Amino acid sequence: MKTSPRLTTLAVLAFGALTGCYYDVETELYPGGDCSAITPGYTSHVEALIAEQCAGCHAGSAPSGGLSLEYYGQIRDAALSGAIEDRISRSAGDPLLMPPNGPLNACDIEAFVTWVADGAPEN
Ligand code: HEC
Repeated sequence: MKTSPRLTTLAVLAFGALTGCYYDVETELYPGGDCSAITPGYTSHVEALIAEQCAGCHAGSAPSGGLSLEYYGQIRDAALSGAIEDRISRSAGDPLLMPPNGPLNACDIEAFVTWVADGAPEN
């Protein structure tokens, strides 16, 4: 049987559109709290999240608030003390919210909280 080239093109376009939408939704919007795309571990998620969202201010010789979040041990200590969770869980407009231009998206917060509940391992 001969497959019509137009049908094949259509199928490819439809597949691209569908997977494209799914990808956009997962990474940008996290609808309905479906955070299954994220594995909540240190090396799989938390390390990059802190580096991207926090270390710009919380690193170097004069970190903001006197808090350095550059290395695992520093991140673990601040995480287990509850200080990070307290700051990232605040509402937009709260002067204590971190990052100051936040909040982080709900799935990043959930992944972080899950990792801390696991004891903040270097996993
Ligand atoms: C644009 C710069 C900036 C970014 C980005 C930023 N912070 Fe901060 N952070 C500050 C400043 C300035 C302070 C000190 C003022 C205050 O306590 O709000 C602070 C204070 C804190 C404190 C309290 C420290 C203490 O012991 O009093 C915590 C915890 C914190 N930040 C966590 C984070 C986390 C986690 C992120 C990333 C999700 C982050 N911050 C991103 C600037 C930043």
